[in-house]
Amino acid sequence: MISLNIEKTFGFISKENVAAYEAKVKEAQDALENGTCKGNDFLGWLHLPSSITKEHLEDLKATAQILRENCEIVIVAGIGGSYLGARAVIETLSNSFAWLQEKKKNAPTILFAGHNIGEDYLYELTEYLKDKKFGVINISKSGTTTETALAFRLLKKQCEDQRGKEMAQKVIVAVTDAKKGAARITADKEDYKSFIIPDNVGGRFSVLTPVGLLPIAVAGFDIDKLVAGAVEMEKACGVDVPFEQNPAALYAATRNELYKNGKKIEILVNFNPKLHYVNEWWKQLYGESEGKEGKGIFPAAVDFSTDLHSMGQWIQEGERTIYETVISVEQPTHKLEVPNDAENLDGLNFLVGKRVDEVNKMAELGTQLAHVDGGVPNMRISVPTLNEECIGGLLYFFEKACGISGYLLGVNAFNQPGVEAYKKNMFALLNKPGYEEESKAIRARL
Ligand code: PA5
Repeated sequence: MISLNIEKTFGFISKENVAAYEAKVKEAQDALENGTCKGNDFLGWLHLPSSITKEHLEDLKATAQILRENCEIVIVAGIGGSYLGARAVIETLSNSFAWLQEKKKNAPTILFAGHNIGEDYLYELTEYLKDKKFGVINISKSGTTTETALAFRLLKKQCEDQRGKEMAQKVIVAVTDAKKGAARITADKEDYKSFIIPDNVGGRFSVLTPVGLLPIAVAGFDIDKLVAGAVEMEKACGVDVPFEQNPAALYAATRNELYKNGKKIEILVNFNPKLHYVNEWWKQLYGESEGKEGKGIFPAAVDFSTDLHSMGQWIQEGERTIYETVISVEQPTHKLEVPNDAENLDGLNFLVGKRVDEVNKMAELGTQLAHVDGGVPNMRISVPTLNEECIGGLLYFFEKACGISGYLLGVNAFNQPGVEAYKKNMFALLNKPGYEEESKAIRARL
């Protein structure tokens, strides 16, 4: 089970002031439970883990198996909350060099599209797929997101041309709204297998719906265990768990107290490159949930040691408006020791016999102490190891803390009105039907 340590924030904020959040956090927890908070039509994520049925998981696994048996490559088309969660889990649990290794039968490589409009990206992807048996999971809650729809249009046609209409119908799966949107219309018309994204679960909170679970199952990971880890965390962060023992409550309270004390930027840190996309998923979760009404902690993220050699200087000595939250993995999956070298030309013989992870842990500890000395408060989230249970728990922990934290900040954590602004301009500039007035207005500004 993951745990949170906030001791290294106490030189910057007081224990008493964090403890003083107890009543407000209880109010937040109650408001989430009772559906009385802002954005209360999007609280389906709250008890999602414990409400997932065995039948639902079996249905997902059966569909995943069809894709695994019939595809060398599966493209997950989606953006934002319809993509980052799956990518975070798959990249955390995969071998770092999986894409370079010999392909195993019935174990497709997962690629991602629909999260950018790069012509080169899409050209190179479609070129790469030319001689491949590929399938597509088209994920969009609204069913109308341009980035995803555009990629899917290209992939659908290519899949049908290459594999025939009948096979395409088998290896294209939709994850979308029950009734509305173009993705739903297409899925129904083409008779694709489809899964529903519940109305009351927003994109960035949807990793434990088919949005995340289907691609993760196709990648060969155990979604039963992922969900079990989330269920355990749902209990550990529950409304009845005392404040000081509840990691989501403590994290939400501490980050709000830091924010109140001028720490406007949170940097999520990992010391394991497999967690890069967990950082990306977390940035969306907190950025889109809290950055509104002129408020909100700016969520940034780094991969250490890599970024110690690029961002380390800024973190150590730049403007003191930051704090760090480190995801620390207690046990790596594999064991590798530093070998002896009789000549010791590199001077590393003092490390002989130590595990590489011991060196990494000392880098982590040394960095924590240096950054705290430099004026950067530090929280530490310990994750026992990178397996399905732990990642399921970590994802739910961040979701629950985000719900509480948004309430403490006083915003609606479950909408994203600001995301629409760029879309409106883009549609106006592209002369999308229905945007005639906006087109005229925007052209006058150019
Ligand atoms: O969290 C959100 O709601 C967004 O990030 C959406 O997931 C993202 O914009 C994609 O939307 P859709 O799933 O409707 O294509």
